[in-house]
Formats: sequence, structure tokens, C-alpha cells
Amino acid sequence: MNILLLQGGAKKNGNTAQVLKWVNEELINLGHDVETVYLHPKDLKGCMGCAKCKEIKDAPGCIQKDDMPEIMEKMIKAQAVVFSSPLYFWGVNAQLKAVIDRTYCLYATAPEHISLVEGQRQGLLMTGGGPFENNAAEAFTAFGRMQKYHKSINAAELFVGGCSTPDQMDESVKAQASEFARKLVGQI
Ligand SMILES: Cc1cc2nc3c(=O)[nH]c(=O)nc-3n(C[C@H](O)[C@H](O)[C@H](O)COP(=O)(O)O)c2cc1C
Repeated sequence: MNILLLQGGAKKNGNTAQVLKWVNEELINLGHDVETVYLHPKDLKGCMGCAKCKEIKDAPGCIQKDDMPEIMEKMIKAQAVVFSSPLYFWGVNAQLKAVIDRTYCLYATAPEHISLVEGQRQGLLMTGGGPFENNAAEAFTAFGRMQKYHKSINAAELFVGGCSTPDQMDESVKAQASEFARKLVGQI
């Protein structure tokens, strides 16, 4: 499978990056082609909501010229995509939110609901300082709603709560990352 990992954490060696590295390792072990895109240094503008993209049905069609079209092309070609981010104020961080909002150009709902990522396996991976309930749950709910527009498959979800620093993560987190990877590709 051709798999895209969107590394949304700004810290190259932060908690999110560490869990994503374990996911990457497991996917490679399972024999998949994996590419990681580190979002933080990219030029990612926010969606303007101009809807110009909706005039083109068979390509992303966004009129903004930044690094997003290249990421969208990678997304379209991938059979599976991992969206990852630290939990910031009960949601995904700005880097990943910019990507999510710009995926507005990947689908149209009228006259019929079509999507350039229909049937794609997608997963959300987040890390946070607090627990899942009353903290991270809403971010996962919002992600699931986005997937209805993408017509994609909610293949895997992982929230690693109670994080301090990556060196404090134990083998159980590594095991959760491996399980997330196997769910993503349906090898579980
Ligand atoms: C701006 C900001 C907002 C945060 N908001 C939350 C939050 O709402 N809930 C939570 O559990 N942790 C929150 N945290 C903690 C981070 O999610 C947590 O430390 C995360 O594991 C950092 O990931 P990283 O090392 O990949 O950057 C916040 C941290 C920052 C800097």
C-alpha cells in the first residue's frame, strides 16, 4: 500500500513525532511504501472558502499557490493517510487544521457527492497532556465528520494522553502505535 503520514507536530523529536515513528516502523515491517510529510516548515495557507475548487471535479483545483497542492496530490495517490497532531486547545493544531480545511477541494457534494479520496483508509493520531474524555474526544468526533465528506474509511484512531516527553513513553505506547498501523492497513 502507498501510505502518506502527515506529521503535524512542530517538534521533530516531540511526542507526536515519536508515536508516528513507531507507526512508520510497523508499516515498513509490514511491507508498505511510506512517505512522511513534515508540515511545520511548509507554506500552508488557510482555506479562503471561495469555492473556486468546486468548479473543477477531477483535480484539487485550489487557486492558492503554496505547498498544499503538492500535499493534495500525494493524498490523492495514497491508499492510506495518517493525520497526526498534538492536541492544542481541544483540537488539532494549526498546521494540520490548515491541511484539513484545504481538503475542501477534494470533494463536491452537488449535483452528486464525489470525492477524490473516496474509499481511502485514513487514521487520526494525536498526543496530549490530558485524558481522552472531555479533552480529546471532540477532535476525534470532528475528524470522523470530515471523513463523511471525504467518503473515506475511518480505519484507525489513536490518542496518547498523559504525555510529558517522548522518553517517558513506555512499551505500551509503542504497542498502541503498532496496533494503529495494522488497523490502518487492515492487517489486524
Ligand atoms: C498551545 C498548546 C495547547 C495545548 N492544549 C492541550 C489540550 O487542550 N489538551 C491536552 O491534553 N494537551 C494540550 N497541550 C499539550 C500537548 O498536546 C502535548 O504536550 C503534546 O503531546 C505535545 O506534542 P508534541 O511533543 O508533538 O508537540 C497543549 C500544548 C500547547 C503547546
